[in-house]
Amino acid sequence: SKPFLIAPSILAADFARLGEEVDNVLAAGADVVHFDVMDNHYVPNLTVGPMVCKALRDYGITAPIDVHLMVKPVDAIIPEFAKAGASMITFHAEASEHIDRSLQLIKEHGCKAGLVLNPATPLHCLDYVMDKLDMILLMSVNPGFGGQKFIPNTLDKLRAVRKKIDESGYDIRLEIDGGVTPDNIAEVAQAGADMFVAGSAIFNQPDYKAVIDKMRAELAK
Ligand code: DX5
Ligand code: ZN
Repeated sequence: SKPFLIAPSILAADFARLGEEVDNVLAAGADVVHFDVMDNHYVPNLTVGPMVCKALRDYGITAPIDVHLMVKPVDAIIPEFAKAGASMITFHAEASEHIDRSLQLIKEHGCKAGLVLNPATPLHCLDYVMDKLDMILLMSVNPGFGGQKFIPNTLDKLRAVRKKIDESGYDIRLEIDGGVTPDNIAEVAQAGADMFVAGSAIFNQPDYKAVIDKMRAELAK
């Protein structure tokens, strides 16, 4: 299996000092920058768009940027994020009328593509697109806000998706997003995740490196 990736969600960062925050969290050992895009339509919150992604690139951030689109519709914004420097783009199954088309659009623009499943979204939407997925993102909270509690059912769902990926033979990352902390990350990894988003667990602590080190220590167990 692939090396574990830790992806801090900038949703919990200090937006007034975003470049510095991202620099600091990468220096603390993060692998990927998780970039939450909310549109006050598909989800009840409003965050940032391609301009801010581009601003991070212009500031000098070279780490992979994982753009999590919580927007509807999705297709029009995909090329904009690709141009703004996104490395990976994921969108919610319910937010696209044509999942296969949206995945192809992401790949045509040179980004890794992934589908996001909400806590209550069934797995069958994955069935005919496994060959087009670089990643699957399972939400372990309902999308829209940071700082929520991990929904325990997600562990069973992770196991089911892990099985599906392994049986497919495709090289697909399994990302988990919502309520991940040093206290549950080992269990989440055992259930099959290999990429971990964490917002409040990292940014609400004064020492980002201490939290990320603790997560890596838990993952090594
Ligand atoms: C929720 C976002 C998450 C969120 C995670 O809609 O997709 O990325 O910021 O935050 P925590 O880790 O605080 O649950
Ligand atoms: Zn997210």
